[in-house]
Order: sequence, then C-alpha cells, then structure tokens
Amino acid sequence: MASDAFWIGPARSEDTEAIHDLVFQNPDQFLRRISFETLKGRIAAGVCWVARRGGAGREIVAACVITVPETSPGKPPEPAEFGGLYVHEQLRGSGLGTSLATFAVASYFWDNDAENSAPLPLIAHVHVKNQKPRRILGKLQFVQKPGVIEVPDGIEGFEHMPKNAAGNVEGHEFEYPAAKRPDLFRWAAMVLETRTLTKGEPVEFDCPIGMTAAELRRLAAALDSAPR
Ligand SMILES: CC(C)(COP(=O)(O)OP(=O)(O)OC[C@H]1O[C@@H](n2cnc3c(N)ncnc32)[C@H](O)[C@@H]1OP(=O)(O)O)[C@@H](O)C(=O)NCCC(=O)NCCS
Repeated sequence: MASDAFWIGPARSEDTEAIHDLVFQNPDQFLRRISFETLKGRIAAGVCWVARRGGAGREIVAACVITVPETSPGKPPEPAEFGGLYVHEQLRGSGLGTSLATFAVASYFWDNDAENSAPLPLIAHVHVKNQKPRRILGKLQFVQKPGVIEVPDGIEGFEHMPKNAAGNVEGHEFEYPAAKRPDLFRWAAMVLETRTLTKGEPVEFDCPIGMTAAELRRLAAALDSAPR
C-alpha cells in the first residue's frame, strides 16, 4: 500500500483515546459529544468506523458511529442512529467523509439483518445551521423528515451547540428508507472496487467478513427481487 494511502475500517478498543481526542474532546459546534465510556462501548459493539492516513494502524483522521439501541420484547424498536461523522479539518473536501459514511452504513446493514425486508430503522440528526453533512446524507439516500426537532436545554452532549431564543438546540431528522439498501450496497461495491477518494487519493478498506463487491451486488439483487 502506498504510504500516503487512506485506510477505512472498524475502530479497535486501543483507538478509543485517539478517536475521543479527535472528535469528542472539543467537539465541533454541530456534533453531539459522547463520553469516553460511551465511545468505548460503541467501539466494543463494532459500530464505530475510522479512516487512517498512511495505512492500517496509522493516524486516525476521521470517524463515525452508529448508535444501536437495546431492544425490549413487546416494545417497538427504537431506531439506530448514524452520527459523530467527523473528518480532520485539513482533509475535508476530498471525499473522505463520503467514503467513510458509505462504508460504515453499508457495513452496518451488512452485519445487521442484511436480508430482512424490515431492518431496524436508521436515522440521523443534523443541526439546522449545519450544511456540511447534508450532501453525504443525500448521496446515501437518507430522506429529511418535515419539521424541526428541538432538544431542550440540559440534555448531555448538546451543551456546546448553537441554541434558539428559547435555549433549545434545533435539528432536522433524516431517515434511511430500507428500500434503498440495494442502491447503497451497489454504490458501496463500486467504492470498494474504485479504491480512490473523489480527488484520486488511494484508499483501502477493511471489510466485515464476507463483504466483497461481488457479495454486495448479490445481496442487492436478492433484496431487489424479494417480496416487499
Ligand atoms: C461533514 C464532514 C464529515 C464532511 O467531510 P468531507 O470529507 O469534507 O466530505 P466530502 O469531501 O466527502 O464531501 C461530501 C459532500 O459534502 C459537500 N460539502 C462539504 N462541506 C460542505 C459545506 N461546508 N457546505 C455544503 N456542502 C459541503 C461537498 O461539496 C461534497 O459534495 P459533492 O460530493 O457533491 O461535491 C466534515 O465537514 C466535518 O467533519 N464537519 C464537522 C463535523 C460535522 O458537521 N459533522 C456532522 C454532524 S451531523
């Protein structure tokens, strides 16, 4: 692998401090903070992905997390939430955020109910004033729900975010339509094969077991032909 290549794959427990320092210690004004312990739990659950610069085992320069709620029998499942997407300031605009998000969401669906026609819903939230992640969510085919969600003062992790006159944080909610997974799997297959970011930087992926471009396409075709 070229020494300047990027590497995208799952975070490991020993990465917790580096991810916390990069993303959550002094979070971006639009990014919800999570604690070190919470991050540790997400990494242990296999739902945190990182990008490294310089290949496997090297400096972490981007991360994202999917929060998967506990399910309780008899209760409708809470949605999982894609968030914490962050790319090192100096590396923005080269497609790293797009590749990381695509890989993370495809890996998540690959590992969770991949062939189920009604997987656990997946949502994302974006501060009303934050334009930066919207193109990525759009490319992944998340759909913005109408209206604004208000997070009242005092909820952990939102303290540093811009607030409205009433002191609440305002956000838009996005939902991932399960029917779009075949498109996502096909796009992820292309991303895996292309192995470059949008401006041509090389990138390698550490895929979940069995997740190859061919298998993603097979799964997409199976989902397309499955009864809805
Ligand atoms: C959001 C973020 C992860 C994007 O990372 P990135 O590596 O720059 O993203 P990409 O290079 O893949 O760009 C993706 C798209 O977003 C667009 N975009 C990037 N910055 C933008 C901005 N400030 N305003 C509007 N669109 C923007 C790009 O033009 C690109 O669109 P295109 O593919 O149609 O050209 C990065 O800006 C970041 O870390 N922001 C701070 C944290 C944050 O806001 N996280 C989201 C919390 S919900």
